[in-house]
Amino acid sequence: MKLTVVGGGSTYTPELIDGFARLRDTLPIEELVLVDPAAERLELVGGLARRIFARQGHPGRIVTTSDLDAGVEGADAVLLQLRVGGQAARQQDETWPLECGCVGQETTGAGGLAKALRTVPVVLDIAERVRRTNPNAWIIDFTNPVGIVTRALLQAGHKTVGLCNVAIGFQRKFAGLLGVSPADVHLDHVGLNHLTWETGVRLGGPEGENVLPKLLAEHGEAVADDLRLPRTIVDRLGVVPSYYLRYYYAHDEVVRELRTKPSRAAEVAEMERQLLTMYSDPALDEKPELLAQRGGAYYSEAAVDLAASLLGGGGSPYQVVNTYNKGTLPFLPDDAVIEVQAAIGSNGPSPLPVPAVDPLYAGLMANVTAYEDLALEAALRGGRDRVFRALLSHPLVGQYEYADALTDQLIAHNREHLAWA
Ligand code: G6P
Ligand code: MN
Repeated sequence: MKLTVVGGGSTYTPELIDGFARLRDTLPIEELVLVDPAAERLELVGGLARRIFARQGHPGRIVTTSDLDAGVEGADAVLLQLRVGGQAARQQDETWPLECGCVGQETTGAGGLAKALRTVPVVLDIAERVRRTNPNAWIIDFTNPVGIVTRALLQAGHKTVGLCNVAIGFQRKFAGLLGVSPADVHLDHVGLNHLTWETGVRLGGPEGENVLPKLLAEHGEAVADDLRLPRTIVDRLGVVPSYYLRYYYAHDEVVRELRTKPSRAAEVAEMERQLLTMYSDPALDEKPELLAQRGGAYYSEAAVDLAASLLGGGGSPYQVVNTYNKGTLPFLPDDAVIEVQAAIGSNGPSPLPVPAVDPLYAGLMANVTAYEDLALEAALRGGRDRVFRALLSHPLVGQYEYADALTDQLIAHNREHLAWA
């Protein structure tokens, strides 16, 4: 089996490699290609990747290249994990929305729109080149904002599944609290990428007993602490929102907080400097502890699981993925991209049925779906007015004065990445 990682020079890659090494029986990789335009960084990351494979006795070959077409040739699956403009662009996304009193975040709100506008054309171009060389390859998209990027890819007819680590993170966390193995925890997970709720936690599978009420009664404090929401809110909802919901449920509090501390991008940039120094040490042959401070925990395991199922079986029977709605959530258009449990086969994901969704969550999902639709329009076709419409539609913006000011800021800070600006 051959796998290609676009954005393979990311400091995150050792997390992926570690998972590939540990789970080699589930996903027997013969050749792994790391593709990245940043040749120097790619060599550092590639060197460590080879040492991790060697230490763990993985027989697979690791190839590094800056040539995308060569890198995807013959690949069974292509993982996209890139960040257009790097942490510097993220730093901007997290900063200028604050001037309007809006959350500054890499995927939520105006910053997320900026990221979508920078990213969608680049990813579509990459996917087109993948298809030209290798029409049968699956594209697994980790590139944020995953919902919008996945929709762009699906709309262009690519064989794509979008992936995020939020669900697998909850699964691991809840398994620990409940004292059971992660494979025994099935989440009733519903929403859009980075806008999800765990409405049930079942033991053994989709038909298993729902232990969410018990989990909240016994471990509500730990669950709420992780989300940085008051326990009383989680108890009143009776479901577990993802930590991205804090940007909605505690928006103004988050804005106040963000104004007083360095951005996440600045923190991550500093970590990346340290990580790259570590990676250059030829004695290092495992993923360093410091990587655990990044948000990507378990993403390798989610990737292995999904790739194994898409490429002929071996992964978990049900997995949380981003795919077309197609009636799963009747209050959303069929071509909306949703994040739900799905059975995964070599033809892709088939979402499991979802019980009626509380209007408290369905309303926000519908609103953000409309925003994602307008965001994709803006990303594909450009123009100030389309950016404005997307921002005006966003539940965290909503007012025309803010939408206008944010539109100007977004364009001013992203001109070099926007062909039309
Ligand atoms: C989580 C999200 C990812 C996001 C990451 C950011 O893993 O699911 O979509 O990219 O956090 O982590 P970072 O360490 O870059 O802040
Ligand atoms: Mn994510």
